[in-house]
Order: sequence, then structure tokens, then C-alpha cells
Amino acid sequence: MKRDLPQALALYREKGRLQYSGEPVSQLDHAWQSFRLAARAGASSALQLAAFFHDLGHLFQREQGSPTLSGKDDKHEDVGAAYLRAFLPDAVCEPIALHVAAKRYLVATEPEYAAKLSEDSVRSLALQGGPMSAREIAEFETNPWSQDAVALRRWDEEAKSGSAHTPDIERVLSVVSDLARDLPASTQSA
Ligand SMILES: [Fe+2]
Ligand SMILES: [Fe+2]
Repeated sequence: MKRDLPQALALYREKGRLQYSGEPVSQLDHAWQSFRLAARAGASSALQLAAFFHDLGHLFQREQGSPTLSGKDDKHEDVGAAYLRAFLPDAVCEPIALHVAAKRYLVATEPEYAAKLSEDSVRSLALQGGPMSAREIAEFETNPWSQDAVALRRWDEEAKSGSAHTPDIERVLSVVSDLARDLPASTQSA
């Protein structure tokens, strides 16, 4: 399969209207809301792109609905990051690869975060290994991308609003595409 930016964006055109597993939003709504939360927080272009693309891996699944309902961990964080590494820098791909680990980290370290998790997130948590152990926490904190992954994870949790407005899909894709083309050179080889 060809791996480039137009192809990634085409996946949202093709499958962005699929329901986000167990939530009142589509895949595109969830991506857009995550992206907007990152932009409003003043995140770097790379991290805004990570927020948009963080669940790209879900778009490679054939079935609609949540894989967690059938007891499967789809490893979507690895699938998405592996695809994007062909044309986007580590500053985008590493937080994506770590966004599930960041959930396991936050659940283990912040009781109030665990209480905010949606039903589907709780179900997938068990499949993804549950809360991190003390050893895993220490290891996660040494990863240079862990802070970005934690920030992304917090936007991820917020980006499930059924009442927020998502612009026309072509508008969304052109905003994302412009941002990706303008990524500062320093993040290209990060
Ligand atoms: Fe995810
Ligand atoms: Fe997500």
C-alpha cells in the first residue's frame, strides 16, 4: 500500500464518517476535535497533527463498531504510527505510538483521570494491559515523547462531544494538509 499524505487523507474521506467506537462522534469528528483542542492549547504543528491522526489505525479496520466489544485489542496506535512514519517525523508519530501507553500511565497515576474514562475506554484499557505497574511508569517517564503523548491523551479524552461542529470534510483535510506541508524542518528529522 502506498504511504503518503494524500493517501492518509483519502482514508478520512472514505471512512471518516464511521462511528467512533462506542462514542457519539464519527472518526472525523473525533480527529477534528482532538486537533482543535491541541491548537487551542498552543501545541506545536507536529503535535496538532499527532492529535488529528492519533486514531488513524482504526480506519484500517474492516468492521464498524468497537473491536473491544469482541474482546480484541486492535493495536491501532502501532498500525497508525507505522503508516505515518513513511512521511511524517517522530514528533508526530511517537506521541501517536504512545497514546495508549499514556492512558495506562494516567490511569495508574491520576485517580481523577480514571474516573473520566468513557465506557469504551475502560473496556479497551483491560485489553491493553490495564494500569501501568511501577516499573512501567518509571520506564514510560524516561521516554522523550511521553509528555507529548500524555497531552495528546488528555485531548483525546475530551474530543468525544456529540454537540461540537465539524466543518466540511474537504475544509478539514485542507487545513491538516497545509499544516503537514509546513512542518518546520527541525521536526522532520527529530
Ligand atoms: Fe486511540
Ligand atoms: Fe482517540
